[in-house]
Amino acid sequence: MDFIEWSESMSVGNPLIDQDHKIIIKLINQLHHHVGAEEDRKALASALNTLIDYTLYHFSREERVMMACKYPSFEAHKRQHEKLIEQVVDTAHRFFEKKEDIVQDELLDFLKSWLINHVLKQDMGFFPYAENNPVVLGITSSLRTDSEQPDMLGTGDLIPKSVNWNEAAILIVSKSRNFRNIIASILEIADAGEIQQYSHADDAMQSLENHVPNLIVYGWKQDDDEAIPFFEKLREIKSGSFAGIPVLLISAREERGAMESGLIAGATHCIEEPIGIQTFFEAAVKAINQ
Ligand SMILES: [Fe+2]
Ligand SMILES: [Fe+2]
Repeated sequence: MDFIEWSESMSVGNPLIDQDHKIIIKLINQLHHHVGAEEDRKALASALNTLIDYTLYHFSREERVMMACKYPSFEAHKRQHEKLIEQVVDTAHRFFEKKEDIVQDELLDFLKSWLINHVLKQDMGFFPYAENNPVVLGITSSLRTDSEQPDMLGTGDLIPKSVNWNEAAILIVSKSRNFRNIIASILEIADAGEIQQYSHADDAMQSLENHVPNLIVYGWKQDDDEAIPFFEKLREIKSGSFAGIPVLLISAREERGAMESGLIAGATHCIEEPIGIQTFFEAAVKAINQ
């Protein structure tokens, strides 16, 4: 069972805002799965960054929608968002810096009560203004990632539109299931056309014979010795449809020079874990355009 489950009682009367809340719940649930997987602290940090990135994005969308429907408590609500951001960033900071020994359960309990309280109490105040409001529904439909209309609120900058994600096929390879899940969640936010996951490089290599993706995202963990041979093998193939597939390498390796050796072996672009939504998309676009 999930840590938090979305139910109709959480609906604030607007499909876009509800969708955002569902995504935030999903990201918190994912974080919950990571807790306890002590060995993968970097994936946990990536999950936390992803949640923070999406929350900031959501708050700015929600505020603009509230302004559009002339919500009288807008200013007070905006201040609550600012306070919540401060709290989440502070908690994350303490977690990352290890300055304080934050119990991971404390972090999750905080996120859970933070979300439930805010959505069920404060966001709910907005329901009568948003529900069936044609102006608001028109605006929010322009914000959907698959919308042909220009973004009417100017908040569509989390996901770069230079790549047609709806039609993109992406292959995720990593020994860490948590890592693969984070990348898949980020790509789902962009409505990516197709997402495939493999834990073993050999299986991923084999899948290329039947299906050529637009991007390979490789999460390189400390205990993984399959990455370099995989890139080398991929680059050995000079002809054929999968000779030039871009590979984004996301390295969680501790040793010096790991990123360089990945690039020499044939990765197209490399960044270090932890990642967040913005850092992921920036790097993915770079790999695709290189
Ligand atoms: Fe909200
Ligand atoms: Fe809110």
